[in-house]
Amino acid sequence: MGAATIRELPSTDADARVDELVDLLLAVVADGASINFMQDVTAAEARAFWQRELAGVATGGTTLLVAELDGAIAGTVMLVLAPQPNQQHRADVAKMLVHPTVRRRGIGAALLEAVEHLAPRRHRTLLMLDTEKDSAGERLYASHGWIRYGEVPDHAHLPDGTPKATSFFYKSLA
Ligand SMILES: CC(C)(COP(=O)(O)OP(=O)(O)OC[C@H]1O[C@@H](n2cnc3c(N)ncnc32)[C@H](O)[C@@H]1OP(=O)(O)O)[C@@H](O)C(=O)NCCC(=O)NCCS
Repeated sequence: MGAATIRELPSTDADARVDELVDLLLAVVADGASINFMQDVTAAEARAFWQRELAGVATGGTTLLVAELDGAIAGTVMLVLAPQPNQQHRADVAKMLVHPTVRRRGIGAALLEAVEHLAPRRHRTLLMLDTEKDSAGERLYASHGWIRYGEVPDHAHLPDGTPKATSFFYKSLA
């Protein structure tokens, strides 16, 4: 298996890749990550999620970056532009997902660096995100200079129903 390639997936290509996106999301939930879904999530629900996100990609409000290994999608991250007229400098980083079988080889870091590189090109210099407390994601963001500004206890449930705190981060690129 070679190195991962990070690239923007344009909406024109995304529809043909939605099965891979569904498989990735289901694998990450099955592995126990808190990413808004419970363990009984169905492929149809995962598909509906991605189709909503891809509608945002089509209108330009969302950019989807994918990590490809041997041409197959192994990871994702999205840059979601804040729509508020008074926050045109801000964006959310969302759905940072790496397939459980290819973790701890730098794909998450490469996706994060790519989305941080992209944001100023979309005129966004303040990035925000939230993630499960004490997770690999939390370590990844902290190691890339993100500021953890708080946590909310019992904010979300793990796929198995266990309540878990969520940590909130921001990073200024200005
Ligand atoms: C968070 C997540 C995206 C990280 O993806 P990843 O590809 O494993 O990330 P990286 O490989 O860049 O870094 C993760 C760890 O691997 C380590 N690592 C990176 N390359 C490595 C290598 N070649 N050998 C050994 N370890 C390595 C990093 O130092 C880091 O270590 P740490 O967890 O002890 O801090 C992944 O764990 C994931 O998808 N989690 C579930 C979803 C989630 O919670 N997403 C975030 C919130 S939406």
